[in-house]
Amino acid sequence: MTPATLDAAVLEDLVSAAVAAPSMHNTQPWRFRLRPETHTVEIRAALDRELRAEDPDGRGLHLSVGAAVFNLRLAVAHHGWEPVLRLLPDRHEPQLLASVRLAGRRPSPAAAEPGLYEQIWRRHTSRSPFSPRPLPGPLWAELVDAARVEGALLHLPDLDETRRLLDLTYEAEARTITDEERRQESRRWIRSHGGTGLGIPPEALGPQDAAGRLPMRDFTALRPPTGQPARDFEQHPQLAVLATDHDHPADWLRAGLALQHVLLLATRDQVRASLLHQAVEWPDLRWMLRDPRSGPEHVQLLIRLGYGPEGAPTPRRTASSALG
Ligand SMILES: Cc1cc2nc3c(=O)[nH]c(=O)nc-3n(C[C@H](O)[C@H](O)[C@H](O)COP(=O)(O)O)c2cc1C
Repeated sequence: MTPATLDAAVLEDLVSAAVAAPSMHNTQPWRFRLRPETHTVEIRAALDRELRAEDPDGRGLHLSVGAAVFNLRLAVAHHGWEPVLRLLPDRHEPQLLASVRLAGRRPSPAAAEPGLYEQIWRRHTSRSPFSPRPLPGPLWAELVDAARVEGALLHLPDLDETRRLLDLTYEAEARTITDEERRQESRRWIRSHGGTGLGIPPEALGPQDAAGRLPMRDFTALRPPTGQPARDFEQHPQLAVLATDHDHPADWLRAGLALQHVLLLATRDQVRASLLHQAVEWPDLRWMLRDPRSGPEHVQLLIRLGYGPEGAPTPRRTASSALG
């Protein structure tokens, strides 16, 4: 494919793909800028959308931006350029989290992974109960490999380990809803469609688990959050643990790239996902999420995967408002 001309319409396409990424509480904490002289798109943190109580180090913000960078890289390749990605390209400007240069040559097969670009708009977080059907072994292997390619680790806990991770998530959830600052913060991000284009519409929250098997995040701290009756969730949730060897901002960005790579592959195969971040937000519980058998790693996120209904779409700010 010959690269397109980088005009305003193509730039808008690239940014629209990037902003379709998941972000913590749908804060969309990113800003994009084109440097025409170097054919480079820069991605900065939008610090006015930080979550000071729940994400004081900006770790979740980096994960969200990493997911957007994955989409941007995929869109650049889709439009016929080879994306050249740099994480934290300027140590004097810590808010500049990544840059993607659009190189003139044809994209390598690895950059333009077939069938993935289309999934960017099909992927939604699905907080509904999933069926008991297990994910096929080859897909798990592909997801693990995708995380590794991006510089992260994906582990598949067994039943006992899954129970332990969910118990820690319950503990985190119980702490969060009784912590006034965090409770208020997550409540502020429940919004209806329209308006600001930010936040989670109540219809995307899904039901609570009647059987208490899955600690879904109670964003409003009012049960049931959406007026939907509680439902029984799957008996054995299928979790994947996303981790990194180190715990620096570049590792958080890599975890975000890995997260989005995994989610788009899952979407391609009609597998839905929801994310469990609660326990990672409490340092002591985050420490306990580690499985000593996997070595000295840093857990970044728990991903629940399975077959079930598609999640409801969430709003986005327009590409033009994310530029600048
Ligand atoms: C770092 C990170 C943490 C998240 N944590 C949670 C969580 O704990 N619970 C949850 O239900 N969704 C969580 N989400 C999903 C976001 O709420 C979701 O991506 C956002 O509302 C946009 O919706 P979408 O994923 O359907 O596009 C998280 C997303 C990211 C990137």
